Amino acid sequence: MDTKRVVADFEDWREAVAEAVALLENGGLVALPTETVYGLAADAFDAEAVAKVFEAKERPSFDPLIVHIGHKRDLDIVAKVPKELDEIVDELVSTYWPGPLTLVLPKKEDVPELVTSGLETVAVRMSAHEVMRAVAKEIPVAAPSANRFGKISPTSADAVMEELGGKIPMVIDGGACRDGLESTIVAPEISEKGPVLRLLRPGPISREDLRKIAKVIKPKKTKADHIEAPGQVKSHYAPTTPLVVIDKPTDFVAEEGVKYGLLSYRGEGNSSLMEATDWAHIEIMSPGKGKLAEGAVRLFYCLRKLDAAGVDIIISESVSETGIGVAMMDRLRRAAAGSEQ
Ligand code: TXA
Ligand code: MG
Repeated sequence: MDTKRVVADFEDWREAVAEAVALLENGGLVALPTETVYGLAADAFDAEAVAKVFEAKERPSFDPLIVHIGHKRDLDIVAKVPKELDEIVDELVSTYWPGPLTLVLPKKEDVPELVTSGLETVAVRMSAHEVMRAVAKEIPVAAPSANRFGKISPTSADAVMEELGGKIPMVIDGGACRDGLESTIVAPEISEKGPVLRLLRPGPISREDLRKIAKVIKPKKTKADHIEAPGQVKSHYAPTTPLVVIDKPTDFVAEEGVKYGLLSYRGEGNSSLMEATDWAHIEIMSPGKGKLAEGAVRLFYCLRKLDAAGVDIIISESVSETGIGVAMMDRLRRAAAGSEQ
């Protein structure tokens, strides 16, 4: 299959959206830009179309998808918000939608089981990207990240082509993603002391941000075959090349004859590994002073470049685990765990 690439620029993104909607209405798949990473979309209420998403991504059916809606009021189409959670959901939605926050809530019966992998809950979000939003306004879509299962999430249309070119009919090129890391996922719950937010996946909306709304609690422990807090699959976002995350520069000792690539946070400074060996390839996430938000935007892009650079091992520096740094370290650790297999 040829993958058609449609550029959504300022002038004609509406046309691109119309083309995507027509394809989705006919049960087809289309990769769409969001502010986090590119998603592979199917009509959320068409189980056959959703099955094609799992097939294209080679994704196991136990890993449920996120439903993207275009209007806040459409939350009612996919989820049943329990009365006791009404207020906190309202606050989350009015503060962070459209934006990179996914809510896990009890599902409506009509949402196909395949979307939720048989769970009683559904993950919902409203993207801030104009293309994804315009599509989702017409047709709510189930859309996981547009990469092969377990691989690095795509933050550009080029990356989508590398992952799924030839396997899907269309990708809309909406440029590079603004945030670069997948949405924060929370499940609002009622505890004895009132509503709490179970943080299932760290992302662009930080724990500090969420704390302003309610107490943030950890995900429950998962068994390998039961995804209660998915996105929590340990090996994920993995390059093909082995990746090792180094906590402090003295932990790294180069071995003779090994070709190393370096993923550096800002290239220089105290915790930098720049001078540690004769690197075969270096990618710097946020050159200069180092800004975590810039690092986050470029993390998957840099990892992809290093994976293609033909080195034997990728060594990554750590970043400080504050704000979006928590999500960056989460992705790096999972990428390292995945690359070991
Ligand atoms: O930013 C994002 O969220 C991107 C863009 C495309 O929107 N999407 C994304 O989808 O990252 P995906 O499938 O790669 O990750 C979604 C995560 C999965 O790990 C899945 O297990 C989890 O959301 N998830 C989906 N439904 C869930 C549910 N009912 N309960 C808990 N986790 C759920
Ligand atoms: Mg993913």
